[in-house]
Amino acid sequence: MHAIKLLLEDHKKMKKFLKQLEQTSERAVQKRKDLFNTIKHEAKIHEKMEELYLFKLLKEYEKSRPNVFEHHEEVLLVEHMIPQLSRSKVNTEEWTAKFKVFKELNDHHIEEEEEEKFPQAIKLLSKEELMEVGAKMEMFKKKHAKK
Ligand SMILES: [Fe+2]
Ligand SMILES: [Fe+2]
Repeated sequence: MHAIKLLLEDHKKMKKFLKQLEQTSERAVQKRKDLFNTIKHEAKIHEKMEELYLFKLLKEYEKSRPNVFEHHEEVLLVEHMIPQLSRSKVNTEEWTAKFKVFKELNDHHIEEEEEEKFPQAIKLLSKEELMEVGAKMEMFKKKHAKK
């Protein structure tokens, strides 16, 4: 599969999970926990895969190199919130607020990739390269799928 197609499908799924969780109330403890676990798992695989296969190639180009570093910094920011969200109780106003910020960061991250980073990747890399990256990503996803 074409790498960008695969990543866009992932984004669509992620946006759906984030929205579903945002719409839960503080009483929906188990649902919040389950959804957050899914988001955590999916986000981890997704970002790892992007960095390992796509951004690694984009680092070689002067034009996209700053975007690769920016991407990494955003990933660190999002990742740093995960243990906090995992540790604290989901039935509190604090958790709701923390998750809201987490969602905003993710939404921003996705939007920037779709509007800037992916179009740039399509410009700089050949279709063959992007197909090859896509194939590697598919293998990676299979290997790390939740059992
Ligand atoms: Fe990303
Ligand atoms: Fe992404």
